[in-house]
Amino acid sequence: MDKIIINGGKKLSGDVQISGAKNAALPVMAAALLTMGWNTFHNIPDLVDIKTIKKLLISIGAKIETNGTTIRVNADHINHCEASYDLVKTMRASILVLGPLVARMGQARVSLPGGCAIGARPVNLHIKALRDMGAEVDIKEGYIEARSKRLKGSTIYFDMPTVTGTENIMMAACLAEGTTLLENAAKEPEIVNLADVLIGMGAKISGAGTDVIRIDGVKKLSSVEASVIPDRIEAGTFLIAAGMTRGDIRILGCNPSHLETVITKLRSTGIEITSIDGGIRALGRKKTKSVDMKTQPYPGFPTDLQAQMLSFMTIAGGLSVITETVFENRFMHVGELMRMGADIMIEGNRAIVKGIDHLRGAPVMATDLRASASLILAGLVAEGRTEVSRVYHIDRGYEDIEKKFSALGADIRRVRETK
Ligand code: EPZ
Repeated sequence: MDKIIINGGKKLSGDVQISGAKNAALPVMAAALLTMGWNTFHNIPDLVDIKTIKKLLISIGAKIETNGTTIRVNADHINHCEASYDLVKTMRASILVLGPLVARMGQARVSLPGGCAIGARPVNLHIKALRDMGAEVDIKEGYIEARSKRLKGSTIYFDMPTVTGTENIMMAACLAEGTTLLENAAKEPEIVNLADVLIGMGAKISGAGTDVIRIDGVKKLSSVEASVIPDRIEAGTFLIAAGMTRGDIRILGCNPSHLETVITKLRSTGIEITSIDGGIRALGRKKTKSVDMKTQPYPGFPTDLQAQMLSFMTIAGGLSVITETVFENRFMHVGELMRMGADIMIEGNRAIVKGIDHLRGAPVMATDLRASASLILAGLVAEGRTEVSRVYHIDRGYEDIEKKFSALGADIRRVRETK
């Protein structure tokens, strides 16, 4: 397992190019299962999770061609409607093949994802929605077994605005008989991106990006050429890096309209954020103001930037209350930050952070994807050397993160951990 070594204290400055969004690419690639012919998807990031979904699609019978950030997917000959436990346990988003397989093939056997570090993360809403559409769904030996000759359009209410739940059922509804309404749907930009791709395939969808999405089922979908949106979480991570290191970073290739809440919140800490050609510029200030932050489903402050924001507040000039409302166990980065001298107290789903002058470098351990990013950010500003271990977590969702930070002036490198 690799480690990332950082000697902190460098101001970051320069340009960084944002990669395509992992959480847009995964559902878009799964949507290829609904079509005949070759789909071409551009701006796909080079990440471990993308490698995993490629393996999964190939195990189902799809053909994949990769050329840089362009991936082509052909699902003409699907011959195996199963997502096995050994693949799903490495990436919960594998659940995204469930809806397309039931819709296209009339059956699917997908391993239950099980819990993960940040919470139990059940998929009961995905299952309930498929049942609402007439599918027979059983849970056997840790697998979801779903069958339906043809799904029926239905009105579905999600008890919580689930992102992959909305995506799974929106895909399934494209080939259902009749109209499906998704109420209390998630509104993330990745869902709008997926809807645009499905419409390009011939689907009839309206309302994506609002909390009611209407899908009128069609008989078949054809292949499409499309792009995935830039990664708003990666862009937010670099905005925070500019604030923490008092740097001057031009974040290129991002879509500022996907980051409105984040930009407003970060401006209130004192970071100067301006629109520039092709992206945004972030100028860190001498004194950072402590602010409170509460994660919410989109368009609220994203839970996937909570760990990075908390890291930032450890060196701000006062008291900050960070509230996590989406996942029940998403503070594992706190113990590691405290090993670097941070002053944090956890009370239920709130972290009370008292800003200190500076963090001190230390060996720390990544526990999940976004926690890893928060530890790297802390290492960039800590006095001395920080070693982040288990960086396989970060490779799931950030493309070449140490190269991007090094190009901005950070003293950061990756070392292969000998067994
Ligand atoms: C997606 O996960 C993202 N993953 C997550 O990003 C992100 O943190 C999350 O949405 C919230 O924005 C992908 O898009 C691949 P949810 P998802 O269903 O869809 C509960 C990252 O770092 N819930 O919106 O799994 C659930 O427990 C990852 O890139 C149910 O109770 O999240 C949670 O409390 C981490 N039953 C809440 O809803 C269900 O059937 C939101 O979860 C489904 C969800």
